Amino acid sequence: MVVGTVREIKGHEYRVGLTPECARAYVARGHRVLVESGAGIPAGFEDGAYTDAGAELLSEAAEVFGRADMVIKVKEPQADEFPCLREGLILFTYLHLAAGEQLTREMLRRGITGIAYETIETDDGALPCLTPMSQIAGRLAVQEAAKYLEKRFGGRGILLGGVPGVARGKVVILGAGVVGLHACKVALGLGAEVTVLDVVAERLAYLDDIFSGQVTTLYNTRANLEAALQQCDVLIGAVLVHGDRAPKLVTRQDLARMSPGAVVVDVAIDQGGCLETSRPTTHAEPIYVVDGIVHYCVTNMPGAVALTSTRALTSTTLPYGLQLADMGCAEACRRSAALARGVNTHRGHCTYERVAHTLGLPYTPLSDLL
Ligand SMILES: NC(=O)c1ccc[n+]([C@@H]2O[C@H](COP(=O)([O-])OP(=O)(O)OC[C@H]3O[C@@H](n4cnc5c(N)ncnc54)[C@H](O)[C@@H]3O)[C@@H](O)[C@H]2O)c1
Repeated sequence: MVVGTVREIKGHEYRVGLTPECARAYVARGHRVLVESGAGIPAGFEDGAYTDAGAELLSEAAEVFGRADMVIKVKEPQADEFPCLREGLILFTYLHLAAGEQLTREMLRRGITGIAYETIETDDGALPCLTPMSQIAGRLAVQEAAKYLEKRFGGRGILLGGVPGVARGKVVILGAGVVGLHACKVALGLGAEVTVLDVVAERLAYLDDIFSGQVTTLYNTRANLEAALQQCDVLIGAVLVHGDRAPKLVTRQDLARMSPGAVVVDVAIDQGGCLETSRPTTHAEPIYVVDGIVHYCVTNMPGAVALTSTRALTSTTLPYGLQLADMGCAEACRRSAALARGVNTHRGHCTYERVAHTLGLPYTPLSDLL
């Protein structure tokens, strides 16, 4: 198969879909790899590393789209890329189609096989190509919060770990899933006092076990949440209700319970955010202040640490990409139910039920088309 990757053109996106190591893995299996010149540079991979791995460089993204059977990216295609989407192309990338009606219609109209990283799902419900980004966002959330607690950004002027004789900072994490767990690790590592709230007792028990009682775990009742807000220096929003918008757990009135200069990092902003006052921000302008509370609501947090993120992402996407390249889409999906769940569009049909339902489109099971 001819496999290609292009430079990401979404604002402040520095990751790349294929590392030189991945290129080498495809070439070793007898595939051809085409790379848009400069595609890896924002993430830290020089062109020469790709050619050393056996890939061929092309000067224009359009050439890669035009000659590859499968294009491997990071973000969903942007409007400028739509004309490059030609019939029969396999597009392997994050797609988030439920939130992208125009893109979905373009993919259907143009007969693209769209395989979304975020919907590749194993039989036990795990999302292997999404998890590493949640791990990164969780860890980064505390790093960002620590920075924005500094006075010059409007923060309280608190050092999360405190110093001998001075109290530590208090971090409250709403949601004990992947983001919550990794935020917890870093907050504890910095020496902060950590409280985690969730509605699933098993998640709270798990965190209590693995952190040997170093974190306070609370069932997310209204009373517990209000008490936690009163005390916290940092609030991290990390809730997720699968396939739905994030529940708005913190209202604007609740901000008055918090200390002025406290920092909110609403990681769940990509699902709408779990505070009433959250709105999406970018790496260029990551924060804004409402009622004295600093809000950080960047929708693609992992992009800030592109080298780590690219390595983490491509390690999980590579095995699936190799299956697609080795067997072709139809056979690979027959053999891997996880991969088949990733197929959102195929030959002009919407093959992912929740996307079809959300966008009011007809749904066709993939098995009917293979
Ligand atoms: N902004 C970014 O760059 C970025 C990056 C990665 C992930 N995310 C987002 O972060 C969010 C969390 O992702 P995750 O991988 O940790 O999800 P997850 O499913 O692993 O965890 C979510 C947790 O939220 C809990 N929860 C649900 N409803 C709750 C409620 N009412 N109160 C308290 N807890 C509740 C669940 O029980 C679960 O433990 C998602 O919206 C994800 O898309 C954002």
